[in-house]
Amino acid sequence: MNQKTTMLSSELNTYWGEVANTFQWKKKWDTIQTGNFTDVNVEWFKGGQLNITENCLDRHLEKRRQKKALIFEPNNPNEAAAFYTFGELHIAVSRFANLLKKKGIKKGDVVCFYMGMTPELMIGLLACARIGAIHTVVFGGFSPQSLFGRLIDSKAKLIVTHDGAYRGDKVTPLKSMVDEALAMNTDKEKTSVETVIIVRRTNNDVDVVAGRDYFYDVLIKDCDLHCPAEVMEAEDPLFILYTSGSTGKPKGLLHTIAGYMVHVGNSFKDVFQIKENDVFWCTADIGWITGHSYLTYGPLLNGTTTIMFEGIPNYPTPARFWEVVEKHQITHLYTAPTAIRSLEKFGVEIPDSFPMKSLKVLGSVGEPINEEAWQWYHKHVGKNKCPIVDTWWQTETGGIMISPLAGITKLKPAHATLPLKGIVPILVDEKGNIVTELVASGNLCINTPWPSLARTIYGDHERFKQTYFSTYKDLYFTGDGAKRDADGFFRITGRVDDVINVSGHRIGTAEVEEAINENPHVTESAVVGFPHPIKGQGIYAFVTCNDHFDHPEDLEKDIRETVQKIIGPIAKPDVIQIVLGLPKTRSGKIMRRILRKIVENDLENIGDTSTLLNPECVDLIIEGKK
Ligand code: PRX
Repeated sequence: MNQKTTMLSSELNTYWGEVANTFQWKKKWDTIQTGNFTDVNVEWFKGGQLNITENCLDRHLEKRRQKKALIFEPNNPNEAAAFYTFGELHIAVSRFANLLKKKGIKKGDVVCFYMGMTPELMIGLLACARIGAIHTVVFGGFSPQSLFGRLIDSKAKLIVTHDGAYRGDKVTPLKSMVDEALAMNTDKEKTSVETVIIVRRTNNDVDVVAGRDYFYDVLIKDCDLHCPAEVMEAEDPLFILYTSGSTGKPKGLLHTIAGYMVHVGNSFKDVFQIKENDVFWCTADIGWITGHSYLTYGPLLNGTTTIMFEGIPNYPTPARFWEVVEKHQITHLYTAPTAIRSLEKFGVEIPDSFPMKSLKVLGSVGEPINEEAWQWYHKHVGKNKCPIVDTWWQTETGGIMISPLAGITKLKPAHATLPLKGIVPILVDEKGNIVTELVASGNLCINTPWPSLARTIYGDHERFKQTYFSTYKDLYFTGDGAKRDADGFFRITGRVDDVINVSGHRIGTAEVEEAINENPHVTESAVVGFPHPIKGQGIYAFVTCNDHFDHPEDLEKDIRETVQKIIGPIAKPDVIQIVLGLPKTRSGKIMRRILRKIVENDLENIGDTSTLLNPECVDLIIEGKK
C-alpha cells in the first residue's frame, strides 16, 4: 500500500468502502459518507447495521476459538498470568453483558468504568458494546471530584469499579473513591448512578450500600453464557472518553460504532503489519484512547493476541518491561516516550541483558519522541532490527493518522512520517492559508473527513464545532504544530494551544489554574508547560497569594493537595513559584507567553514588556525562577 497517494474524495470513499467490506455487517450501508466539516455533521456508513463485538469475537470463533485473545500480566510478577482464548473471552463478555442487563442497563445507557487494569475492564467494555450500552472509562488516577464531574456529564447509570487497584507498591482504594464521588450529590447536581458493581482485586474492606452496591463475583455466577449481539446502527454511539482542552471542563468525546471500528481495525493491521501469531503489547491504560483503540478494539478486531499489564514499568525493578517481553514472547511493543525515558535513566545494561528476540516492531505514542529516546529504544530494545512506528493521533481522531508502516516506510527518528491511506493532513499558516510548499511548518489540520473522527462533544455540539472547526474554515484543527520535510514527512512539534502534555497525558492549563485558584490562600495563578527530561513537559505554576507565608513550602504543599483533590495526582504542578504579580496586558489578560519564555530559559525572546500593565514583575519573576 502506498502512503503517498493523493486521493480525490470519490477515491477516498471507494477506499473506505473497500476497508469497511473487510468487516462483518448485519446489513451493509446505504451511503459511505455524508456531511462535511462546514456543517460539522460527518457520518459514515449510514444505513449499515452491525455489532462491533461480533467483529471482535464471534467471527473469530471458527478459526481462533482456542487462540489466546487476552493475556493478563499482573502487577506482581509472582502472581500467575491469566489467559482468555477467543472462545473464553466471548463467553466472559456474554456473561458480563447479561449481568448489565439484569441490572437494568439497556441500549443507549451509559456505563462508567473506574478501575485498575484487569481483564474485567476490557470484558466490561465489550459487554457494553454487546448490548448497545455506551462505555465511558475514567482513568483511576483521577480524583473522586473529577469522577463526579464525569458522572454528571455522562449521566452514567451504573459504575463498575474495583475494591482497590494495584499499581507498583501502592493500592488505590477505588471503591471508597466512588463512594466519595457519589456523596457529592446535591439536589442541584446529582449523578444518575443507580448501581455500583465491585470487582474484587485487592480484598481491602469496602462499604456496601444495600440496593446499590453489588459484588461482581456474586452476580456473575448466575449469568447466562449466551447473549445475542444487539443490532446496532452504524452511527450509534460506542463510547464517550473525556479529555482535556485548552478551556473549561474536560470534553466528553463521543465515538460511533462503525467508523471507529473500520479505521481502528484497519490502521492496527497496516501500521503494525500484524501477522497471525503476533503478540501485541500496548502498555497504555484503558483509561486513555490508546488503551481503547490499540489494546482492546484494534487487536481483537484482527484476531490478534493482546496483552494487558496491570503494573508500571519500574516495578518491582526497572527490568520489568523486558521481563514481560521475554515471558510472553511479545512481537510488538507499543509504549510512550515518557516510559522509554524513565527506563533509559537506569542504564543500557538492563535492556542489553535481555535478548528480546521475539520483538519485531516497536511503537511510540502520546507525545513527541525526542531523537535520543528514539535511538535508545531502537538500539537497546529493538537491537537495531525493529522498525519504530512513531504514531501521531488523538482522542478525537479515534485511530492513528500519521505514522510509518512497520518495515515499509523509511524511518526517520522523531518523525511520524506520512499519513495513513485515506487521511489528508495539511499545514496552515497563522493567517489560515494552506501552506503549499513541501518543506514548511505550520498548524496541523485535517482536510477531509475520515471514519473514526469523534462525532461530537457529548451534550455540547456547539463546543465541538468551536473547538475543532472554527479556527480554520472547513478544516479540522488538531491543536498541534508540525513541520514537513522534503520527503513529505511530518514531524509533530507539540501543542500550539494551552494544553500541556505531561507523560503523554493531556492536561489543560486552564483546568489546573481553576483548581489552584480553589485554594483559599491563592489570589491568581498562571500555569505553563516546561521542558522536562522524563515527562516531556512538566507543569510550572506561578501563583499570587493573599497571605504572607514564612514557609512558602507549606503553601506549595497545600496547593498541590488542592490540585490532587480536584483533578487527581496527574495534574499536580512540578514547580510552584509564588510571585508578587503576574505579567498582564493593560486589559488585564495574563501574558502566559512571557511566562513560557521564562520557564524555557528563552529570555532573549521575551519581547517588549514595556507595554504591560506591570512590567516590573517580569524581572522579579526571572529572579525568583526555580
Ligand atoms: O500533541 C499530540 C500528542 O498527544 C496529543 C493527543 O493526546 P491524546 O488525545 O491524549 O491522545 C494520545 C494518544 C494518541 C496530540 O495532539 N501526540 C500524540 N501522539 C504523538 C503526539 N505528539 C507527537 N508525536 C506523536 N506520535
